[in-house]
Order: sequence, then structure tokens, then C-alpha cells
Amino acid sequence: MTDIDVRVLTDEAQYRAAHTVFRGSLHHAPAPDERWEAIKGSYEPGRTIGAYAGDELVGGVQSFPSALAVPGGAVVPMAAVSRVGVRADWTRRGVLTAMQRAQLRALREGGDVVATLRASEGSIYERFGYGVATRYREVRIRKREAAPRVPIVGRVRLVPLDEALPLVRELFERLSPGRPGTIARWPGWWDVSVARSEDKDRLRVAVCSGEDGDDGYVVYKVERGSWERGVEKPTVLEVQDFWAANPRAWADLWGFTLRVDLVGEVVAFGRPLDEPLEWLMTDRRAVVVEDVADETWLRLVDVEAALAARGYGVAEPVVVGVRDRFLPENEGAYRVTASGASRTNSEPDFVVDVDVLGAAYLGDVSFSALAMTGRFSGGPPEAVRSADKLFAVAESPWSGTFF
Ligand SMILES: CC(C)(COP(=O)(O)OP(=O)(O)OC[C@H]1O[C@@H](n2cnc3c(N)ncnc32)[C@H](O)[C@@H]1OP(=O)(O)O)[C@@H](O)C(=O)NCCC(=O)NCCS
Repeated sequence: MTDIDVRVLTDEAQYRAAHTVFRGSLHHAPAPDERWEAIKGSYEPGRTIGAYAGDELVGGVQSFPSALAVPGGAVVPMAAVSRVGVRADWTRRGVLTAMQRAQLRALREGGDVVATLRASEGSIYERFGYGVATRYREVRIRKREAAPRVPIVGRVRLVPLDEALPLVRELFERLSPGRPGTIARWPGWWDVSVARSEDKDRLRVAVCSGEDGDDGYVVYKVERGSWERGVEKPTVLEVQDFWAANPRAWADLWGFTLRVDLVGEVVAFGRPLDEPLEWLMTDRRAVVVEDVADETWLRLVDVEAALAARGYGVAEPVVVGVRDRFLPENEGAYRVTASGASRTNSEPDFVVDVDVLGAAYLGDVSFSALAMTGRFSGGPPEAVRSADKLFAVAESPWSGTFF
């Protein structure tokens, strides 16, 4: 590879250059001054790595400080990796690989147990040790047929965005990290995605409450429909952020969004795979699943700490061998039992690459399924079945936060 110098960026001019490289890699123009003012706070010191060819910045990666809920109730330090981009005239020369190497090392030394990201393409990140650990579904609900079965029981009220923000953040923080896969949002997330979002004027917030006070919210916007050559394009209510603390709040908020007037369809992007929306509707076919896609790409940065943090189901112990090209200190064997996991000198029952363990870690995919696809070889079937039971979870893991 041509000489590339990878280093931590330190000042605002460098952050802005990195942001421009990132936007350029996604075919967007540089952020105008006003937008940059909203964004710059999300560049925290020490968390952006740049790749230089001479004096020119040709690539960048960043991470936000976060935390991940894992099965069993623990929450582990997590880096939310984002804004990954290499200038088009420098791709496929190892720039991302060099930045990944530096970033993974820095995250490990900084105490992050895991890193997660959202991928632009499915073929980039496995080589760096990331596996798909949660998925989401995108649903389109035809309002007329939906007719929710249950009435709104609590109170749902619209709150102006600025007034709603502290309320919404407090509610979110009560719920996430909570369910396995959910994460903490950093201040810049709220700023860029909500408070100073480009859509800010169009965002509406409904907050619901029951006997014990506020217990859920939905942030949404409405895309007006039209008639084109006699064909109606329906008005669509787009659910952007939806969190409910209990089943009543959940049904109330869906009931509310499905009763807003002059709306033909409700669309929600990024919902849990096991959300029982169909069961709420009078006509379950009103709910159309438009997409099921990868959400969290998870990288175990400290395999020992990650395995020790999660809870396990009841099954015979297994010894899992791990290979990791980028962080060799993770390599070795780990004994996983119903009461916990730790390093061992025993021979592994089977050996997996760290991306495969990342995919299985939150329970979204079983070891048996991964074995069927040739993601790892060896291992007596009974050991693989035990691993399935040890890592199984009751709820679909889900993050619910896009970054
Ligand atoms: C994705 C991106 C950052 C990769 O950067 P890069 O410097 O070209 O990556 P590298 O040269 O280090 O590639 C390492 C390996 O990954 C492969 N790879 C990289 N990007 C890939 C892609 N988009 N699709 C398939 N393979 C890819 C390379 O072929 C190479 O494989 P090899 O080791 O077998 O030779 C760059 O293409 C880019 O900026 N894309 C547009 C923006 C984007 O998608 N960003 C990611 C946001 S999540």
C-alpha cells in the first residue's frame, strides 16, 4: 500500500475535513456552515481517526461513546462506529483496513467491550470481525383495514418538540439500554437526529401516560400524498422513534398513530422482529412487512469480558474456540456454562471466527444455523446444540437506534 498515515484527529478543522470525506464517500456535498454548526458537537475528542496521504485526508472513521444491553440484564461499554468513508480515488488500497486496525486497537485500549455499526453494504465488515447480531423489520400498515382491536386506554397528548425533548430523552433512557441489543444514545445523537435535525419543523411528538405518569412516546412526521393521473399516492405517517414502557402504552401509541386523520398508511422503519403488530389489528393483513434487514453489526472487542457479561440458558457446558486476526489477544478457548463464561486451557468443542461469535452473541442466530452455512467447521452436533441453548434468548434482540 502507498504510505498512509493513520492518526487521531484533534481539532475542528480536521473534524470538518473528515466529515466532508465521509459525506463525499456517500455522494453528498460538504455540509454547509449552518449544518456543520449542528453536527460539530458530535465529534468528540479522541474518537475520530483519519488516514492521510501526505497532507491530504483521504479517509476517516469515528465512534460515539455508548453502551449495549446484553442478555441477562448487564450493560457493557460500547463504541458506536460511524462516519466510515474513504475518498473514491483512494479506495481498495487498504485505507479502511489500516483505519480499522487502529480503531479496534484504540477501542480495546480505551475499555470498550464491544463495537457496533450500521453497514452501508453487507460485504464490508465481516473481515474486520463484525457479525450481524440484530435485525429489524420495516412495516407498512394500511390504516383503513387496520382498525386496532383495543381502544386508547391512557392519555396520548401532542407536545411541541422543544418541550418534548427532555421528556422523550428521559423516557428513552428508562428503556434503553434495557432489552438485549438496545443501546445508550450520546448527546450528539439527539442533537443531530432530533433537536437540530434537518426535518425538525416537521417532527411531531406524542407522549402517552397511564396511572403512573408518562410511559411512552412516538416521534413521527407526515408525508402528504397526491393524485397523479387519477392514481392516489396516500398520505403516509412515518414513525421515526417509538418507545413504550408497557403493553398498554404500546397499544395506545399504535392506536394513536393509526387514528390520525387524513392519513392513508403508517410506515415504521426499524421495528423489532417480534413486535406483535399483526395481532393488534382487526385485519392482520393490514400490516405488510416491507423489509427485514440487518441492524446491528456487532464486534466483540474484548471477547472474555463480553462472554462473561451475558447470561446463559440451561445446557451442558461448551468450549468455544475463537480466532481474531485484528485483536489476537482475543484468540483462545472460552468455557461457556449456564452460570457464566471464562477463558480455559481445555480443547475447544468447535472454533469460530470472531465475527461469527458476534453474530450469535445476542441470540439472533443459532450456532446450528451458522454451522449449516459453513461459517465454522467441526464440533460434535451435541456441542453445537448445547451452544444453541446456552445462547438462546426469549425476545428478539433489537437496537432501535440508527446512527
Ligand atoms: C467501504 C469503504 C470505506 C472501504 O474502504 P477501502 O479503503 O476501499 O477498503 P480496503 O481497501 O481496506 O478494503 C479491504 C477489503 O475489503 C474489501 N472491500 C472494501 N469495501 C468493499 C465493498 N464496499 N464491497 C466489497 N468489498 C469491499 C476490499 O476489496 C478488500 O478486500 P481484500 O482484503 O480481499 O483485498 C469505501 O469503499 C467507501 O468509502 N465506500 C463508500 C462509503 C461507505 O459505504 N461507507 C461505509 C459506511 S458504513
